[in-house]
Amino acid sequence: MAQNQLQFDFSSRNALITGGAQGIGFEIAKRFLQSGAKVIIADYSAEALAAAEAELKTFPNAKFARLDVTDRASCQALAESLKEPLHILVNNAGITRDKSFAKMNDGDFDQVIQTNLTGIYNVTKAVFAKFDPAQPKRIINMASVVALYGNFGQTNYAAAKAGVVGMTKTWAKEFGRKGFTCNAIAPGFIRTKMTEAMPKEVLEQLTAKVPVARMGETSDIANACMYLASDAASYVNGTVLSVDGGVVL
Ligand SMILES: NC(=O)c1ccc[n+]([C@@H]2O[C@H](COP(=O)([O-])OP(=O)(O)OC[C@H]3O[C@@H](n4cnc5c(N)ncnc54)[C@H](O)[C@@H]3O)[C@@H](O)[C@H]2O)c1
Repeated sequence: MAQNQLQFDFSSRNALITGGAQGIGFEIAKRFLQSGAKVIIADYSAEALAAAEAELKTFPNAKFARLDVTDRASCQALAESLKEPLHILVNNAGITRDKSFAKMNDGDFDQVIQTNLTGIYNVTKAVFAKFDPAQPKRIINMASVVALYGNFGQTNYAAAKAGVVGMTKTWAKEFGRKGFTCNAIAPGFIRTKMTEAMPKEVLEQLTAKVPVARMGETSDIANACMYLASDAASYVNGTVLSVDGGVVL
């Protein structure tokens, strides 16, 4: 394993990762599997799920499920299919529909809020009773640096991610006594299909603003996620962990 990867033993842990079939979620799923966890990779893209399944075929503890986080019946069906108690939920599924406020239509706004914010509520609500009452529990929500600082062209996305931060802090307060910690990660610009869709010049301009002079990798976010899910982070609750190379300083 590479030197820059934290190592934890999650062999008695069951994790559910939404949007886990590609990008950041896939890397998180892979790292949990390598650390011994049983992982359910839930995603709405059948194509991405098939590719993930092929790539993870050496991990018998990987399970794959179709899930649309915007559809409460789909979230409920997933919850009902869970055979074992849950310990770790990573609410990672997310989309972008970037446009300046003037050009953004109602559909772009609603879709991003429904996926990136309401989707986290839907999944957590559906699986909440499935968490193991006897063991430490972790909820990790994927926010974004733009939740904290805003971003041109992302009215919908920044609003959704800022909502994720508020929801995370509320759950940290409400669920703490029940054996949960609930934290958010705020990634900066991470190399995935989401950012590959951006024009090359924009990416170069953005990278030039990052003090550590590079885009983030999915492994940077997976490391943060592993830490927050581990026993080493049992006193970290309600935080938003920025993993962004210092881009907003
Ligand atoms: N890449 C970045 O630079 C960056 C920065 C900040 C935050 N994030 C956040 O990290 C998370 C992962 O982003 P990524 O870059 O890996 O994106 P990605 O597009 O590569 O992967 C997102 C995954 O979510 C799935 N998904 C989308 N809508 C869904 C739905 N309704 N139900 C179930 N699954 C759904 C997709 O099929 C896909 O597999 C997102 O929440 C994103 O907002 C990414």
